[in-house]
Amino acid sequence: MSAVTEVAANVTGKKVLITGGASGIGAASALLLASRGAKVIIADLSDEHGQQVVSQAEQAGNPILFKKVDVTSGDEVRALFAYAMQELGGLDVVVNNAGVDHLPKALHELSDDDFDRTININLKGVWHCMRAAIACMAPSGGGHVINLASVAGLRSSPGLSAYCASKHGVMGLTKTAALEYAKANIRFNAVCPSFIDTPMVRNTMETMDEASQKKLTHASPLRRLGTVEEVSAAIAWLASDESSFVNGHAFTLDGGMLA
Ligand code: NAI
Repeated sequence: MSAVTEVAANVTGKKVLITGGASGIGAASALLLASRGAKVIIADLSDEHGQQVVSQAEQAGNPILFKKVDVTSGDEVRALFAYAMQELGGLDVVVNNAGVDHLPKALHELSDDDFDRTININLKGVWHCMRAAIACMAPSGGGHVINLASVAGLRSSPGLSAYCASKHGVMGLTKTAALEYAKANIRFNAVCPSFIDTPMVRNTMETMDEASQKKLTHASPLRRLGTVEEVSAAIAWLASDESSFVNGHAFTLDGGMLA
């Protein structure tokens, strides 16, 4: 009888690009994957925060690379993927995580700027990166694209209509691509967290009164925010070959909110 050993999902040697990797879920995922032997590049709009995550990884003995990018620019995204291919010699996993929210407002009160910014970053930015990932992965035998959607991509989200629309859009892109590119051996999955304790959520909570903050924190049946460690553990498993039959899936991390 073989001994039972506890082994984390194996991502050793995986070549991984994570957008929005300078903060929150993206940074935690980059640090976890690098600690498990993956070769990681993070890309983000924020140079300062990107360099901070690079230093953290360096201090932990698992160096990663950073490249500045604005995912709303198709040209910048193409240049990012060219850089990743050059530095890593290929791409196994792309995590499309860069995203923003907007302050809670009724749909008719949202400004054009709020709507356009949210859709451009959260939806068009993901499409730019999916398109670039496919161009890199198809000729080299396949890969895995993991898109950060949200529970707001699966159900309504009062006060967050543009965010909710952008994340439903990400679900549409993910499921469509999963079928279009299965024959090229490229898998597409979405990760759908509820409220997670990150700078994005903390900044929104700062604009709320105490009762609204409590409501948000208790939105999950577990009556707490999720942690970046919980989300990055799921991303690390998806990034491993253990997830090899998972395709077109919405991986929900919500403490039971949608049950
Ligand atoms: P965060 O605000 O901590 O990190 C997002 C990162 O994206 C930041 O470093 C930011 O600079 C970067 N970014 C923003 N616009 C960009 C652009 N145009 N180009 C490149 N980078 C850009 O956010 P968090 O909470 O870690 O969220 C990560 C992803 O997870 C987002 O897509 C978010 O919508 C999604 N998500 C987050 C949840 C939460 O409760 N925190 C829940 C469900 C989904």
